Amino acid sequence: MRFQVSEGTFNEIHDYLSIMFAAYSDPLHPFVSALLPGISSQDPAIYTQGKYDEAERALSRWKANPFEKWVKVVDTNTGEIVSVSRWQIYTRNPFPNGAPNVEVAWLPDGGRLREYCTYITNSRLERQASRCSFPHIWLNMMGTLPQHRGRGAASLMLKWGIEKADSLDYEMFVEAADSTGGHVYRQMGFVAVDEYWTRRLESEPDSDWIELEEKYPFKATWMMRPKQGRSTVNGTGVGR
Ligand SMILES: CC(C)(COP(=O)(O)OP(=O)(O)OC[C@H]1O[C@@H](n2cnc3c(N)ncnc32)[C@H](O)[C@@H]1OP(=O)(O)O)[C@@H](O)C(=O)NCCC(=O)NCCS
Repeated sequence: MRFQVSEGTFNEIHDYLSIMFAAYSDPLHPFVSALLPGISSQDPAIYTQGKYDEAERALSRWKANPFEKWVKVVDTNTGEIVSVSRWQIYTRNPFPNGAPNVEVAWLPDGGRLREYCTYITNSRLERQASRCSFPHIWLNMMGTLPQHRGRGAASLMLKWGIEKADSLDYEMFVEAADSTGGHVYRQMGFVAVDEYWTRRLESEPDSDWIELEEKYPFKATWMMRPKQGRSTVNGTGVGR
């Protein structure tokens, strides 16, 4: 086979981030463009710096997280990495004390963008903690270079994850960020549980906040693959 899937290694993290940046900027993912400065920049120097900085942060997070794995697909004809994904294989409840409270510390301190990204990130973590407080597999990100799409690279990585999940008898979860991702996951046995647009609920947002929500919406479909790919009693796999 021309494409080969394997686990990633720390020393290639800058290559993986190059692929993620190329994938998430075509089409541009609105919330990712808020979270990762540089990804939407037309200035090559700003784009490259943003990618470099995120690769360094990704490496630190990876080294600090024993549950994390990166998976890559290589075109064996050329040796080029064409697709990457970031996973967490949680062999225990990752949220024994509930959701952590994180700060998107690389965005300018005191700015509304930082406040907004921090709010959305913590809302996502709260949702994850309330739904996934048991061993499971979490697919965090997945991207294929635009010129290599539609050739089965993402499906190969999903098969890698599914084999892991089935061998451990775990459920798998992903926040599918757009309809393209959703299609790939559905094909691989994931079911859509619900859709959401994460917005500020607990206080009346001001006009700056509403502008941020409109410009950088976080809209996602929560998807899960039941244990062994079996659907459950209510047809969604969501019985918890
Ligand atoms: C989603 C993504 C990772 C799929 O990668 P891929 O390697 O092209 O996926 P595959 O080749 O395994 O394709 C699986 C299916 O998705 C379809 N597909 C892939 N990319 C597509 C696109 N851009 N538009 C519509 N369908 C697409 C394929 O045609 C295939 O469907 P088919 O078997 O019915 O033909 C890739 O489109 C991407 O990087 N998107 C941007 C980042 C992103 O949205 N990531 C997922 C966030 S949840």
